[in-house]
Amino acid sequence: MSKLWGGRFTKKTDQLVEEYTASIAFDQALAEEDVQGSLAHVTMLGKQGILSADDVDTIKDGLHRVLQRIRRNDLEFSVSDEDIHMNIEKTLIEDIGSVGGKLHTGRSRNDQVATDMHLYLRRRVVEFVQLLAKLQEALVGQAKANLDTILPGYTHLQRAQPILFAHHLMAYVSMFGRDIERLQDSYKRINTLPLGAGALAGTTFPIDRHFVAKQLNFDRVYENSLDAVSDRDFILEFLSDASIIMMHLSRLSEELILWSSTEFRFIELDDAFCTGSSIMPQKKNPDVPELVRGKTGRVYGNLMGLLTVLKSLPLAYNKDMQEDKEGMFDTVKTMQGALQLFAPMIATMKVSKERMRQAVNQDFSNATDIADFLVGKGLPFRQAHEIIGKTVLYCIQEGKYLLDLKLEEFKQFSQLFDERIYEVLQPEQVVNARNVYGGTATVQVSDAIGRAESELALV
Ligand code: ARG
Repeated sequence: MSKLWGGRFTKKTDQLVEEYTASIAFDQALAEEDVQGSLAHVTMLGKQGILSADDVDTIKDGLHRVLQRIRRNDLEFSVSDEDIHMNIEKTLIEDIGSVGGKLHTGRSRNDQVATDMHLYLRRRVVEFVQLLAKLQEALVGQAKANLDTILPGYTHLQRAQPILFAHHLMAYVSMFGRDIERLQDSYKRINTLPLGAGALAGTTFPIDRHFVAKQLNFDRVYENSLDAVSDRDFILEFLSDASIIMMHLSRLSEELILWSSTEFRFIELDDAFCTGSSIMPQKKNPDVPELVRGKTGRVYGNLMGLLTVLKSLPLAYNKDMQEDKEGMFDTVKTMQGALQLFAPMIATMKVSKERMRQAVNQDFSNATDIADFLVGKGLPFRQAHEIIGKTVLYCIQEGKYLLDLKLEEFKQFSQLFDERIYEVLQPEQVVNARNVYGGTATVQVSDAIGRAESELALV
């Protein structure tokens, strides 16, 4: 059989042009969605009396057979049929004969491909919400096991104030919670049906777009046929959401890599998630977080790629838009891999409470608390800050930490000090003193864990 659009042509397509313009190598990933959309379309054509009931039955049977062959992996796609839509239509016509040619009545590949993409992303978004929730679960699990683990919190990667390790992990739970919200919000726009827009202007057939939407579980249809076939915002939104998710994963990756270095030794990733070196026998490398950090780049790239493709495109469909697919598939695959690995990697990591504690005992991260102590005695904060700055400088010169100072030494800096500061300076005290909503005090973090668990139960 010749090309489905061959009528107007007198010459064969150049072989290189066929290869260059074909998308079948990658859009075959849309095969299921394409059949799903066609089944709903042809059912509507029957209901509207545009096709006879017999024709509709024959076409539906044929489409189901195509679907089975797709699932059995027994469909040979050909480059000369360009894309998944024409490959499937051609297979259908080969199977049921010329009645198969009635399927495309009142439809264009332009609204068809857009519909397939909506169906595809709709399913993926639901899967990603689940994967993110799994990761949150793993983080919450580690947080619960580390409600008594204190480590230095950092700003500028310099020791700042002690915090609970659970509090640090729960920050990521919040971040991934926003990612879930963003995906759920984008669902509204993903779940809008373009089919029925035709090539760009609608169709002369008395179709029922709302009936198709209902069959395919779309909440609504596009208001404007030009917009329906030109819009790729929903893919951009997904790629943006994915970029933010990967950015979060990459920040966590960076911390896991730092924490598992000999310099920190705060955590140890399970052997199952690390690899060795071909030359250095002692090595255990955190390849998974490193690769996730690296692959974040390609996910950003896919977003920039599509933004750039769409910039300046006139309405409505342009072949440029075929470039929306590979980046999207790549982002789906890259992010799936990262999220699938992250949940078990977090769940199995070993946390060294002792190393973290040791670090807290050997720093000045409790300095703010003695400043606050002096404020409690009536000193303005700025003056207290200055006094403690001098005290810390003295400690550094003497090779001591604040808890090593004798009360007389403290008193050289202010007569307001008394022996209660030794209690104030204890890491547990420092942590639990931050008893504000969202703070690092044990009661607050344990409340936060409770709230996260009840939200997770809803996902
Ligand atoms: N393979 C095309 C794509 O992915 C399908 C739509 C083609 N439409 C057209 N008028 N050439 O964008």
